[in-house]
Amino acid sequence: MNENMNSPRLSEDLQKFSPVTVIGAGVIGISWTAYFLAKGLEVRVNDVRPDLEEVVHTGIKRIIPSLQKLGLPTKGLTDRLTIEGNLERALVGAAVVQENGPERLDFKQELYVMIERFVSKDTLLLSSSSGLKASEIAGKMEYPERMLIGHPFNPPHLVPLVEIVPGRSTASSTVEKAVNFYEALGKNALVLKKEMDGFVANRLQSALFREAVHLVLEGVVSMDELDEIVTSSIGLRWAAGGPFLTFHLGGGKGGLPAFLKHLGPGMNVLWEHLGKPHLDEGTIQLLSEQAISFYGAIEQNQLEEKRDSRQLYVLDAFNEKNK
Ligand SMILES: NC(=O)c1ccc[n+]([C@@H]2O[C@H](COP(=O)([O-])OP(=O)(O)OC[C@H]3O[C@@H](n4cnc5c(N)ncnc54)[C@H](O)[C@@H]3O)[C@@H](O)[C@H]2O)c1
Repeated sequence: MNENMNSPRLSEDLQKFSPVTVIGAGVIGISWTAYFLAKGLEVRVNDVRPDLEEVVHTGIKRIIPSLQKLGLPTKGLTDRLTIEGNLERALVGAAVVQENGPERLDFKQELYVMIERFVSKDTLLLSSSSGLKASEIAGKMEYPERMLIGHPFNPPHLVPLVEIVPGRSTASSTVEKAVNFYEALGKNALVLKKEMDGFVANRLQSALFREAVHLVLEGVVSMDELDEIVTSSIGLRWAAGGPFLTFHLGGGKGGLPAFLKHLGPGMNVLWEHLGKPHLDEGTIQLLSEQAISFYGAIEQNQLEEKRDSRQLYVLDAFNEKNK
């Protein structure tokens, strides 16, 4: 029987993590919600927006084809969904909170003070923040040991990585619980050894984006040409092996040491010449004009569908290889 015709079922490993409260129903919150539901979890969604009901249902509907391509069951997907605008009602009895509110330290600090009033001392509190430190977000909490970062990559229903970043006060049992939760969901949960702004994946992304902006500003390539260069070279390469393995192989039999001896000096010189653009008004205007000129004629939904379907092909290829 086609798996998509089945209803989601909660695995034994996930039972202790239900219900989950998702706070913030934007880009990330809706994607998490759809994925959690497909894994059989009971989900409550909380947000302050007046159109919450409609936004959540429309968003989930849009994600269903991707969930089906992942082989996840989607029949009656929203049967275990509650949409709850009241924070207290959304939180009471929650086993896990995945918070996806606006990326502002003052906002998140206040939110966590409220969250801890309504949850039990065992509730796992995960923030999707893409760069703020758990130590700072939990700075005003009375019991910060159950709070940490569970940073997904967009869209969380597709991309395997979740960076787990504990704060100074996070208990080691909380870290273990977070790893168990994401692994039971089929995610690749990686615990960082040290808190650093932007964590790892976003720092890498920022470094590359900075040079991408520099090259476009300098007129070396246009935005769409740069995107094509990445997807047909390093994007493809890095899907198969990260930067270190790639250069280890680039060194032939001598591996990374030989590579660094041979090409390292040139790279050192190049590092000195990498661009340091600023996202000032002029730069933003130029980038915005190019984005509209190259991508603006295509509906956002269509661009998202194309991205998701390409990512699914890559994931499929990996799943085949790992069988
Ligand atoms: N967009 C990305 O690519 C991405 C990737 C990984 C992580 N993140 C992180 O995820 C979080 C959310 O990002 P996003 O892109 O989904 O943002 P978004 O702007 O799309 O969504 C934020 C949502 O929070 C809601 N909100 C505002 N105040 C609230 C309140 N008091 N209570 C409940 N909900 C409230 C808003 O109404 C909105 O729906 C951020 O911390 C961000 O850093 C984003």
